[in-house]
Amino acid sequence: MGMKKKSLKKTLLASSAFQPKPKIAKKGGPVVAQSNAPKKLKNRNVRVPYSHDETMLLVGEGNFSFSNSLLSTIYVQAPENMTSTSYDSEEVVHEKYPDAKSHLTPLIESGVKVFHGVDARDLGKTKALKGKTFDVIVFNFPHVGLGIKDQDRNVMANQDLISGFFESALKFLKPSGEIHIALKNSVPYTLWNIKTLGANHGLSLRTKTPFVPETMYPLYAHRRTIGFDERLSTDDNEDLKRGAGDLVNCFTFAFWRKEYAQKQAESKQKKKKPAPTPKKDAEYQSDSE
Ligand SMILES: C[S@@+](CC[C@H](N)C(=O)[O-])C[C@H]1O[C@@H](n2cnc3c(N)ncnc32)[C@H](O)[C@@H]1O
Repeated sequence: MGMKKKSLKKTLLASSAFQPKPKIAKKGGPVVAQSNAPKKLKNRNVRVPYSHDETMLLVGEGNFSFSNSLLSTIYVQAPENMTSTSYDSEEVVHEKYPDAKSHLTPLIESGVKVFHGVDARDLGKTKALKGKTFDVIVFNFPHVGLGIKDQDRNVMANQDLISGFFESALKFLKPSGEIHIALKNSVPYTLWNIKTLGANHGLSLRTKTPFVPETMYPLYAHRRTIGFDERLSTDDNEDLKRGAGDLVNCFTFAFWRKEYAQKQAESKQKKKKPAPTPKKDAEYQSDSE
């Protein structure tokens, strides 16, 4: 009998109809150990804020290396659920970032939707996005890149970009969806007051996750708005490390709608505290009030 069972299992395993479930990232993404991360993170585990089953829109991509990194890891299992976009036209992307082709080719070949000339402040202008909603909308290291020297004006110009992005992205976000912005953890970026900008648009901060490319997004190579110039730029994300000292260099700020956050908190609270068991004559008592 035991023998029979064993051979049946073997036969089933060999048939295409019965395959073990693939190992996939749980909601919230896999946990990655930070062995060679900045001091504060060393040997801590960080959960990647992306999971396999989400519909995702990426805006303001530079060389498309972040999208390609998500695709190449287990964070994205259905490439058709991913839409990746740049502000620059296709021609300008290739001019500015010579390595863009190596990231765009696998994206396009696997079925990721790629669009160029997409303004994060006016997503509605992109016809292909019409009627679409997403679980996550991501803008990594947004920057107007106008070379404004005056710090206050520079901060304001970037705050305008983020506010415009929040306003537009909300129209394409599912009720339970998240808007992600990765930022450096140093001046002037900390002066942007991203949490307040979110609050102004009815968003609250759900999570703030360290952004450590080496361990979490291995193919990601940060690019400046101005483009890649090997005399000025660095290929190994050195730009992201500058100015942060021993602190964690960058974070992904994940926002969700305030009212949805409240609902979630309420239902969590209800689950924690079971309602008191009604007294025997409770019905009679309430009827008589
Ligand atoms: C510092 S670069 C970061 C590029 C890329 N996200 C990365 O992480 O390497 C800032 C990016 O913001 C984009 N950007 C600026 N204004 C934008 C807008 N209105 N809509 C979409 N992207 C914009 C630029 O084209 C540039 O790609």
